[in-house]
Amino acid sequence: MAVEHEPVSDAELEKLESVLLNKADNVSLHRRFRALFTLRNMDDDRAVQAISKGFKDESALLKHELAYCLGQMKRTSALPMLEDVLRDDREDPMVRHEAAEALGAISDPSSMPILSQYTTDPNRAVRETCEIALAKIEFDNSSEGKAFRAQEHSEFTSIDPAPPSEQREEVAALRARLLDTSLPLFRRYRAVFALRDIGTPAALDALADGFGDSSDLFKHEIAFVFGQLSDLHTVPALLRVLQNDGEADMVRHEAAEALGGIATDDVLPHLREWNKRPDAPRVVRESCEIALDMWEYERSGQLEYADGGGMEKGSVAVA
Ligand SMILES: [Fe+2]
Ligand SMILES: [Fe+2]
Repeated sequence: MAVEHEPVSDAELEKLESVLLNKADNVSLHRRFRALFTLRNMDDDRAVQAISKGFKDESALLKHELAYCLGQMKRTSALPMLEDVLRDDREDPMVRHEAAEALGAISDPSSMPILSQYTTDPNRAVRETCEIALAKIEFDNSSEGKAFRAQEHSEFTSIDPAPPSEQREEVAALRARLLDTSLPLFRRYRAVFALRDIGTPAALDALADGFGDSSDLFKHEIAFVFGQLSDLHTVPALLRVLQNDGEADMVRHEAAEALGGIATDDVLPHLREWNKRPDAPRVVRESCEIALDMWEYERSGQLEYADGGGMEKGSVAVA
């Protein structure tokens, strides 16, 4: 259940914004993330404006999270900013990917031309994201999509890049679709979310088989749903991803954060190690910082993973 929020005053908003933007120049990244989640939970256009100011930052990890949050807020006032981020070819592909995915989450048909345009982007994760986001907007606006939305489908509150597959299917059939690279990614994603919603060990093993794919985007989404599920069963697969320095940054980043949310004793030394490793990519080190903060939160019994705002348990899932 969502927590009811008091309206946030302009003064509080300004405080959150200055934490998010690190105006004092001494704010840790994980505090900035918590301020971001509080702003996201405010769910108004002032928060959209505050979050949008963060795209001048140097941290790709922070910026991709800004884009994710703007998508989850589902406010059309964020569209111009997200389009600018997608168009900026000097921007980190992980951030551009998340901007495209956010356009899909907001699901306004006016985003379709720009998403079509970037389905030929040189970066594979960006063009694949655009392809999926386009398919999602088409689906949402179809009669099937409208009927689908009328029912409750999932205990997860996130707006996903694709809906779970429609029919109740066996894990084996879903696994086959998940791994069938001849299918459009949107259909494979639907199998990902169906398996997530099933959530049994067999379903999780099927998802983990997806880590053998050649698409970084696809693999990062599997790590993301493992973060949502927070199931001990996925720890060995996630640790293999985090420790594999041949794996793409965006996949390792998502594995680190999933491990932070699962928060068992055995993941802690690995998160600490990769937070400090000088040879680790910045995104991986920073993800481990956020993961360590999530780990502490999960173990602390605090009710909210945010900075003064409310967030229901289980929705910590960062992008
Ligand atoms: Fe992502
Ligand atoms: Fe992410």
